[in-house]
Amino acid sequence: MPQFQISEIISLRTLFVADVPSLFSLVDNNRCLLREWLPWVDNNTRVEDSVKFIESTLDQLANEMGFQCGIIYNGTLVGMCGYHPINRSNNSVTVGYWIANNMSGRGIVTSCTKFLVDYAFDKLDLNKVCIPAAENNLKSRAVSERLGLINEGIEREAEYLYGKYVNHVRYSILRSEWIAS
Ligand SMILES: CC(C)(COP(=O)(O)OP(=O)(O)OC[C@H]1O[C@@H](n2cnc3c(N)ncnc32)[C@H](O)[C@@H]1OP(=O)(O)O)[C@@H](O)C(=O)NCCC(=O)NCCS
Repeated sequence: MPQFQISEIISLRTLFVADVPSLFSLVDNNRCLLREWLPWVDNNTRVEDSVKFIESTLDQLANEMGFQCGIIYNGTLVGMCGYHPINRSNNSVTVGYWIANNMSGRGIVTSCTKFLVDYAFDKLDLNKVCIPAAENNLKSRAVSERLGLINEGIEREAEYLYGKYVNHVRYSILRSEWIAS
């Protein structure tokens, strides 16, 4: 099962059903922040919704479609990051992430995302990593920009977020570019 040490105090690991209480409280305590940019938040209102989510990540892993991990800081679950199901036809993958409000601003997500990009090229043998972000989601865009991903342009009205469509900025990096950098 995926488990990675990112730094002395940050690690990533697969979540199991035993993690449901911590995951659900984290979502519940950060609902306002998360719902601004993540479409699934209003559909995650009961503990059973976190059970379903964790089961879906275990299925994804079992089907070799990539993985999602909890972000563990000093032993505590503080967020999630990982891959959307790998596109095997095109050898590409999309990375997603979120972190608790009180753990933001410390570079945790940037270092975890850097790890996921490295891993996608080194271990999963993929050719392209994409990180789309809503045009006004400046904190998410900053993660991609900090890591040197390329802004491919705008995908218009790419996502329906609670009653409105938002444009995405498509950030991506190719294996050749990542190795060169
Ligand atoms: C998007 C999101 C994950 C970004 O989180 P974040 O805390 O800004 O990202 P990081 O953990 O990488 O921290 C970066 C910040 O730490 C600072 N920092 C401190 N030490 C750092 C280090 N060693 N390396 C990088 N940045 C560091 C950076 O300067 C930056 O601060 P700033 O925002 O004041 O410029 C977070 O805002 C979030 O969860 N949003 C809601 C969900 C969401 O939008 N998900 C993405 C959907 S596309």
